[in-house]
Amino acid sequence: MAAIAGRVCVTVVLLVCVLGGQALDLLMGTTTSGNSPSTPTVRCRCASYPNVTLCSWPEPPHHPPTHYVATYSERHRQSVTKHCHLVQPGSSSSDVISASSSSSDRLWHCHMPSLKLLTDYIINVTAVYSGSSSFHLSSFMLEDIVKPDPPVDVTVSPRDSKRLLVQWSPPPTWSHLDIFPLKYQIKYQRESRGIPRSYNLGPIESNWVVLKLKPGAYLFQVCAKELLNLGECSDWSSPVKIAIPRTR
Ligand SMILES: *[C@@H]1O[C@H](CO)[C@@H](O)[C@H](O)[C@H]1NC(C)=O
Ligand SMILES: *[C@@H]1O[C@H](CO)[C@@H](O)[C@H](O)[C@H]1NC(C)=O
Repeated sequence: MAAIAGRVCVTVVLLVCVLGGQALDLLMGTTTSGNSPSTPTVRCRCASYPNVTLCSWPEPPHHPPTHYVATYSERHRQSVTKHCHLVQPGSSSSDVISASSSSSDRLWHCHMPSLKLLTDYIINVTAVYSGSSSFHLSSFMLEDIVKPDPPVDVTVSPRDSKRLLVQWSPPPTWSHLDIFPLKYQIKYQRESRGIPRSYNLGPIESNWVVLKLKPGAYLFQVCAKELLNLGECSDWSSPVKIAIPRTR
């Protein structure tokens, strides 16, 4: 009986999903001697190239693990592992981090300072339960997971009777704007029958644009992307509404 109870059952699920510009899920697995616990689903993002990289995963609501262990290493030097600095859901620094995330899940985060450029990394997030554990391995390269926070202070004002001035400020969390400038994309749609139209700015960094539009009520949003196209555009800023009155 002791032998059966002590027998450890190992399940390994190999996931090969190649998503352009995303961290790659390599392997997920569970080591259990009882019920199979859920494997953390880990997403990594670099919100300020090259120094601020965070990985996040939701805490399972019903059976939270006793603790997590998060380690990372260079793919070609896996013997050298470092600990990813854990931030619990609900702690004050975690509120700041998840302010930009739309998910209502309680998210765990871990922080990796000063990663090397153009280097493959592997992160192993292990959830430890009483008597069992389950891990999630993902692989990423910093350049593929760049995603700034949304631009802030978006304002839209009439420039004259037909034209609008849209202005914004870069995300304050993007620390090295001088070395790694951002470019922007504007999205606008009519409030009622809204087919969204977007407008790419660049290749030169600019924090404003003038648009000529027909009368009506519009919603404007802006996203920020690294100037050389690393990673993806930020989430959209919250919509700003403006009405262009009919002129006669
Ligand atoms: C990133 O952080 C490392 C160590 O903290 C520092 O040496 C490096 O200068 C930083 N990089 C930038 C671009 O600030
Ligand atoms: C992931 O980390 C856990 C805890 O440190 C370790 O026991 C496990 O062997 C690691 N898994 C892999 C595939 O490296």
